[in-house]
Amino acid sequence: MIFKKGEFFNGPGGFGLAAKLARVTDKHGTEYRVEHQWSNDIDESACETYIRNICPDRPESVILGDVRELDIEQLEGIDAFTFGFPCNDYSLVGEHKGLDGDYGPLYTYGVKVLRRFQPKWFIAENVSGLQSANDGQAFNQILVDLIESGYRITPHLYKFQDYGVPQTRHRIIIVGIRDDLGLEFKVPAPTHGPGTSKPYRTARQALMDPPIADDAPNHEFTRHTAKVIELLNHIPPGENAWYEGIPENLRLNVKGAKLSQIYKRLEPDAPAYTVTGSGGGGTHIYHWDEPRALTNRERARLQTFPDDFVFCGGKEKVRQQVGMAVPPQGAKVIIEAILKTFAGVEYEYTDATWNTEDFVPERQIVLSL
Ligand SMILES: C[S@@+](CC[C@H](N)C(=O)[O-])C[C@H]1O[C@@H](n2cnc3c(N)ncnc32)[C@H](O)[C@@H]1O
Repeated sequence: MIFKKGEFFNGPGGFGLAAKLARVTDKHGTEYRVEHQWSNDIDESACETYIRNICPDRPESVILGDVRELDIEQLEGIDAFTFGFPCNDYSLVGEHKGLDGDYGPLYTYGVKVLRRFQPKWFIAENVSGLQSANDGQAFNQILVDLIESGYRITPHLYKFQDYGVPQTRHRIIIVGIRDDLGLEFKVPAPTHGPGTSKPYRTARQALMDPPIADDAPNHEFTRHTAKVIELLNHIPPGENAWYEGIPENLRLNVKGAKLSQIYKRLEPDAPAYTVTGSGGGGTHIYHWDEPRALTNRERARLQTFPDDFVFCGGKEKVRQQVGMAVPPQGAKVIIEAILKTFAGVEYEYTDATWNTEDFVPERQIVLSL
């Protein structure tokens, strides 16, 4: 059984690769998998990366442009939909045009797709901070909109290190299955860490096992100033630019918040801290042993992209793409759990972080006032 997948905010293809690799076979030998149908992103390099790695034979299926200007009616029908929506401009403050507003919150364009095509399942992804945006109202609004689009949803705060990703990355992922299908999605149980048979994957394993070839793609080293190298030489693994042992003359002169990730060196025998795509000097993730920032290929390893997944664009564009992606190995566990739900294949599961009943009634009360 093949699920044709549409995607918004495709980025370099974290979800794209996970979907391409996911496979489940039911007891009759029928294979369940996902096939790319179309996707969209506003970023040219991200689209190039996606085409190159996910659908090289169908470049026209990756639509470059602003989702707010996309003619959703012209898109082909789909059975599955993924959208890791940017949430930065979502706000309930001011004029709230809702789903019909031209400049409404970007997630609403995903909701339009759900209402237009009614795919059998979807995955929405966002940062963990979404739960507290607008005092929790934003999250509530999003869940209610998804439920009212005709889906039974399972929102959960996934800790990707629990699924074999060598990085502490926490993301809210909402899986929705169309109401009429009568299926219930369960959050797959952690596979790594306490309570499982496997330890967490560490930064050392990710970067060294196997070693990265010198000529691997996206493996350019950053040239640091002598001062940055000296600063890094005084920061032990796991510590950052505010470490007390740094000599006075090397200390950063920063007023205000001292972000804990600034010039933070990795701890080799633990999962890495979260790989991010934005941020200036000092936020590029620093090697535990060598006084330097990681290369994009090393960051891609922490995000579980294979070495033959080539990112397109300049070094800074690639850093952005790698940092914003969903780790494909983690997303694959979730997609395979969805496929198992459809295939009737049992799997170990755990409780979801949120019970959707906590969200729906509030809206109903509001509507009935
Ligand atoms: C968090 S990333 C998504 C990563 C992707 N889910 C993955 O797994 O690789 C968000 C993406 O939204 C895109 N984006 C932001 N604003 C957009 C807009 N108005 N229209 C289309 N894409 C947009 C960005 O270029 C970025 O690639």
